[in-house]
Amino acid sequence: MSNFCVIILAAGEGKRMKASVPKVLCEICGKPMVQYVVEAASLVKPKKMIVVIGRKRTQVKEVFGNNVRVAYQEKPLCTADAVKAAIKDIPPDARDVIVLYGDTPLITEETIRVLYDFHTSRNVSCTVLTTFLDNPGGYGRILRNEAGQPVSINEDKDANYQQKNIREINTGMYCFKKDDLLEALKYVKPAANTAEFYLTDVFSWLFSRNRKIGACVVDTSQEVLGVNSQGQLLEAAEILRRRVLERFLEAGVSIADFKTIFIDASAQIGSGTKVLPFTVIEKGVSVGKDCSIGPFCHLRQGAVLKDKVSVGNFTEIKNSYLDEATRVRHVSYIGDTKIGKKVNIGAGTVVANFDGKNKNKTIIKDKAFVGCDTVLIAPVVIGKNAIVGAGSVVTRGHNVPDGALVVGVPAREIKKRKRL
Ligand code: UD1
Ligand code: MG
Repeated sequence: MSNFCVIILAAGEGKRMKASVPKVLCEICGKPMVQYVVEAASLVKPKKMIVVIGRKRTQVKEVFGNNVRVAYQEKPLCTADAVKAAIKDIPPDARDVIVLYGDTPLITEETIRVLYDFHTSRNVSCTVLTTFLDNPGGYGRILRNEAGQPVSINEDKDANYQQKNIREINTGMYCFKKDDLLEALKYVKPAANTAEFYLTDVFSWLFSRNRKIGACVVDTSQEVLGVNSQGQLLEAAEILRRRVLERFLEAGVSIADFKTIFIDASAQIGSGTKVLPFTVIEKGVSVGKDCSIGPFCHLRQGAVLKDKVSVGNFTEIKNSYLDEATRVRHVSYIGDTKIGKKVNIGAGTVVANFDGKNKNKTIIKDKAFVGCDTVLIAPVVIGKNAIVGAGSVVTRGHNVPDGALVVGVPAREIKKRKRL
């Protein structure tokens, strides 16, 4: 059993983000940013993980389920105050406390381990993870004495001209000896200009009491991005989006392009499937093996595509099931539809699933052939092996029997096909 716990701070107002949801719930590749931090932290197997939350707490709590302990910070009085809110939940037998921020979604398990190993191997009182940035603006700066030892962290807004030129920044990831952290938190005073309690002030307090401070320098400027604005959210999303695509590449999915393909982190795609440029695959979509998706294709929530399905140019699929080897190659909308095996949906076919009040279901059975430019007004069933002639409108409830050939507006049966 490990000897440390992790506290993730996620109770900030996130004013600079100007979002309607709490900042840490802003999504990247379909997942709230704080969830990335929770996942990375759980991989280092702490004794306990505590997430400190504030505004809209019920909404934020829902993200975590029962896997983490949630503590509440009543007022967002800054990061030291947020840690105080978690004190009662720290296990008494924990030796160290790792503190992470919920707005650094790029952090990885490896970097948290590097921080912890540095901290324990040097036997210091507290360690801050630092890195050097070409543009350090907005981050706290690491102040070192003549001997090169870190002595304190100064916030960007409090830094003087000289300090603003310091390129070594506070990434917002720390490891503390629990007893030292708890002691220092009693003495941290609010900042004179903002009346906020900075966690970064714990460092100067401990240094002033002759405790050893460590600065663990890492060379991963990409991992430490703190997301405070919509611009930084986009920056983080670009990096995470590539990580998600790389995961699919490793699983044998062919991704034609890093720039124009967007796949949600929770989507599932089987090996041998090709994803072509300008394709968006949303949350929870499931695609089988050896499929072809795109270019210019949008698979929305609830889309399930079995093996060897081919979905092509300008096609949108929502809440629909497409069984093996079915083809929807061009310019179609398929919504709330269950399609069988080896069905061909012709170019320009639209399922009219919404009647102004309800979303209605369509069923298209195995080996049916739907001609170009067809409108299927739901609810409707197209039978097995049936043919719908090009340009038809199949009106609601006028189900097409197995093997029938229907054409026209509204579509009328003109004959039974011989072969069923
Ligand atoms: C913080 C650090 C800064 C560091 C940067 C790294 C402090 C005082 N400053 O600045 O040195 O370079 O992160 O990204 O810590 N939070 C709460 N309760 C609060 C306030 C904040 O839980 O009352 C949480 C936020 O949800 C966020 C994290 O703490 O996840 C950091 O807060 P934020 O306001 O983003 O701090 P920065 O200005 O980025
Ligand atoms: Mg921040």
